Amino acid sequence: MKILVINGPNLNMLGRRDAAHYGTETLPAIERKLADKSKSLGCKLGFFQSNHEGAIIDFIQANTDEADGILINPAALTHYGYSLHDALVDSGLPVVEVHLSDIQNREEWRKISVISDIALKQISGLKTQSYILGLEALVEHIKGEKK
Ligand code: DQA
Repeated sequence: MKILVINGPNLNMLGRRDAAHYGTETLPAIERKLADKSKSLGCKLGFFQSNHEGAIIDFIQANTDEADGILINPAALTHYGYSLHDALVDSGLPVVEVHLSDIQNREEWRKISVISDIALKQISGLKTQSYILGLEALVEHIKGEKK
């Protein structure tokens, strides 16, 4: 089983962003924790981060055929990324949306996700743990589908 783990704009700067919202861990540290978790879950991970919506779409299109699911933190694209939304739909893959911060308890515009309607689940506000729980939920779902 292969999961694409995708991070959107500015998440390459984790560790230097507002720790109250995003915690102190860097993206490579989060990816290491996910890699550890993937061993016990029995899946392989493919990591990708970009500050560009088009590059994320290119990555999804190029890797869909070899993947079973997508774990994504779309970052600010969450709130307006319609072409990312469409690329996720077109992939036909199960998607779990994660956020480090609690997007329901910040600015009004962050409460809106244009991704959540096509995601199996949205997990937010748990910092790195959002990703870990998101990966678990996605893998459980895929295992259920394959039975
Ligand atoms: C974020 C929340 C978004 O609103 C923000 O633009 C981000 C990160 C999060 O993980 O909490 O860059 O997706």
